[in-house]
Amino acid sequence: MPREYTAALEEVLSLRLSDDDIRRKEVRSALAKIAGLVAQLSEGLTKDREEFVRSEYLRDEDQQRAYLLYYTTTNLLKLWPPLRELSRSGFFAGYEELRHLDLGTGTGAAIWGLATYLAREQPSITTLRSQASDKLSRNLRTVERFASAFKSGLDLRMSTSLMDLGALAVDKGTQQFDLITLMNVLAEVDESYDAEIISFIEQSLAEHGATIMVEPASREVSRRALRFRDRMVASGFYVYSPCCRNGSCPALEDEDNWCHTEIPWQRPNFIRIVDDIAGTLRLSLKATYSVFLRQDTNLSDIFLEHRDFSSAGRVVSERFDEKGRYRAFICNDRGRREYVMNKRDKSATNRLFSKVARYDLVELRDIEVRGHDVKIGSEAVVNVLRNAEGSKNVYN
Ligand SMILES: C[S@@+](CC[C@H](N)C(=O)[O-])C[C@H]1O[C@@H](n2cnc3c(N)ncnc32)[C@H](O)[C@@H]1O
Repeated sequence: MPREYTAALEEVLSLRLSDDDIRRKEVRSALAKIAGLVAQLSEGLTKDREEFVRSEYLRDEDQQRAYLLYYTTTNLLKLWPPLRELSRSGFFAGYEELRHLDLGTGTGAAIWGLATYLAREQPSITTLRSQASDKLSRNLRTVERFASAFKSGLDLRMSTSLMDLGALAVDKGTQQFDLITLMNVLAEVDESYDAEIISFIEQSLAEHGATIMVEPASREVSRRALRFRDRMVASGFYVYSPCCRNGSCPALEDEDNWCHTEIPWQRPNFIRIVDDIAGTLRLSLKATYSVFLRQDTNLSDIFLEHRDFSSAGRVVSERFDEKGRYRAFICNDRGRREYVMNKRDKSATNRLFSKVARYDLVELRDIEVRGHDVKIGSEAVVNVLRNAEGSKNVYN
């Protein structure tokens, strides 16, 4: 983990989390207590979701502590792959100072994710002005405390605003931001408010700004996020990544489908201890994300001479290695289609298909589009434009 994050976490929780410290009895028992609360949070956020979210669980001091230790730690790095993809467009090059708004900030995962990323990968940005917003003032106070403890090379200037995304009509702001993040908040907000959230984003985003949504990867909430994606597109925004299409999301056409990335990470030992006790497991980081721009620019444009949403595609499933063939689902203007390559057809030009992984950005030419699938024959050309290494974060 980025050390400035862990150091601030230790200070705010008054708990030492190094590998040596977590062997001590008192630290073990503090982690065991937190793990009990994480088990409750995990159950609430998956099984009895609606009722649990209505209970405003982060009002409770102990639950907020557990959320901060476990969920903020396992969420912040999920912002890095979309930020890295965005940086390929030259997005960060024009800024020395970045104005950022985080909606539904909770204990600030998106802020710590952005600040750790900028400090390491965008050294020309020296100042980050982050505005944390949430409907709970307790969260804003915790984020302020965390920001005071967060010491990195970046000049982090925090402000907070109490904002209910379900009552934006009265709160509408006119401040302009270069980057707006929504992280695991749409999952808690009724979809009937999406139109107002989107018009708020339209008003608050600078002309060349970006909005990044990162939501959970489980089917129901991922689909909810994809519907928000479609509403952003219908309002005139473009999805810069991960999609290679401007239309609506084809995963929504079949109610058994959804779409998410999976990011390898090095699980900290204090998270492993909590996982072992709580029965949770974070061996990788999964998320449904979208990067939205006002301009029609796509990540694939950076790699291809001309826009081509039928040749560029995003791998949206794992790769299935079967007897005699490889299969993967790939999404672009053609929809979310199954691509199949017989092992006997493997050639010098298509062999990379036998290696593709979830969320690789690929280029496919000379393929055979059939009724129920797309065949990658021996003549086909398969290139990996940006492999999952791009997401292979994550900072160790
Ligand atoms: C699951 S937490 C996510 C926190 C943080 N963004 C993260 O990814 O770890 C959801 C957050 O959304 C906030 N929230 C829920 N409904 C909201 C609303 N109507 N307006 C603003 N914030 C809301 C909650 O208070 C909570 O802090």
